[in-house]
Amino acid sequence: MTALIGNKDNLSKLCQTNLFEPSLFDDVRSFVRSPLNYIGGKFKLLPQLLPLFPKNIRTFVDLFCGGCNVGINIEAERYLFNDNLTYLIDLYNTFLDEDIDKILYHIENRILSFNLSLTNVAGYNELRALYNTERNSLDLFVLVAYSFNHQIRFNSNHQFNNPFGKDRSCFNVTMRNNLIRFIERIQLLNCEFISSNFDKLDLSDLKDCDFVYCDPPYLITNGTYNDGKRGFTGWTEKEETSLLSIISELSKRNVKIALSNVLYHKGKENKILLEWIKTNDFFVTHLQKSYANSNYHTTCRNIYGTDEVLITNYLPK
Ligand SMILES: C[S@@+](CC[C@H](N)C(=O)[O-])C[C@H]1O[C@@H](n2cnc3c(N)ncnc32)[C@H](O)[C@@H]1O
Repeated sequence: MTALIGNKDNLSKLCQTNLFEPSLFDDVRSFVRSPLNYIGGKFKLLPQLLPLFPKNIRTFVDLFCGGCNVGINIEAERYLFNDNLTYLIDLYNTFLDEDIDKILYHIENRILSFNLSLTNVAGYNELRALYNTERNSLDLFVLVAYSFNHQIRFNSNHQFNNPFGKDRSCFNVTMRNNLIRFIERIQLLNCEFISSNFDKLDLSDLKDCDFVYCDPPYLITNGTYNDGKRGFTGWTEKEETSLLSIISELSKRNVKIALSNVLYHKGKENKILLEWIKTNDFFVTHLQKSYANSNYHTTCRNIYGTDEVLITNYLPK
């Protein structure tokens, strides 16, 4: 791999024009939170991540959008949210196209007619069976509200199979407020939701004013979406290598890139990633539990902890 990105020549190619009025995105205290409790969701890391991102973005691509926590809090002219979980993207497209009152009416009507509560497992199972037959995307949201840990989990036949979240999960006020703010936000943005495998998405139009954020499953940790047993592609060394080479290619075209990942986790290290960072001379920012952070070109962390990083092909300012 030859791309040497992040040097001063490339950095000077940032878009110069200020395309945006100060508005929606200025107040860090009012980040919009996804109504979906996504494993690996980056909401809590936003205060550390957003200052590391470029300004004046034309197209922002959230290649593994999950709960969309990152994209909805970034200022850009245009947004592409992608995830290979088709049913999730169907839900977002409903949020995008439907009137907010109709969405709330559907959800609340389902809760009443299936008598959903913290204890009614039969009602939950009935709605789950209906969803698995009819695939009404808003029913997926209702199920997630009442399911164990609010997780989205499908079996290999694409049947939603997350169990009931007895005594814990319901469509509470916080979730309702997050949902309303989320819908209001995406309906304001110039955005598109796409369901594609990351390596099939057409990124050929992207240029140096564009920014691709990648938050893939982590090779050395476990998530329900990366074990390959859920009817969707798993995450193995093959996917990891393919993603890294796509990033290298985009970098050669001066598209700005940021990749979230962990370099070390519970005694494991991601050798492929470490080698790729070295070869490409990318920038690594180690993220902290606190809001402070620091930049390194090379990594040096205790391999028994978790070293969560943001890797960029530009030097964050
Ligand atoms: C860590 S989550 C993203 C979380 C998101 N950044 C947030 O803050 O909510 C990773 C996402 O990648 C998606 N994914 C996994 N494999 C994929 C693939 N091969 N192509 C596209 N998306 C994939 C999963 O469905 C999951 O939603």
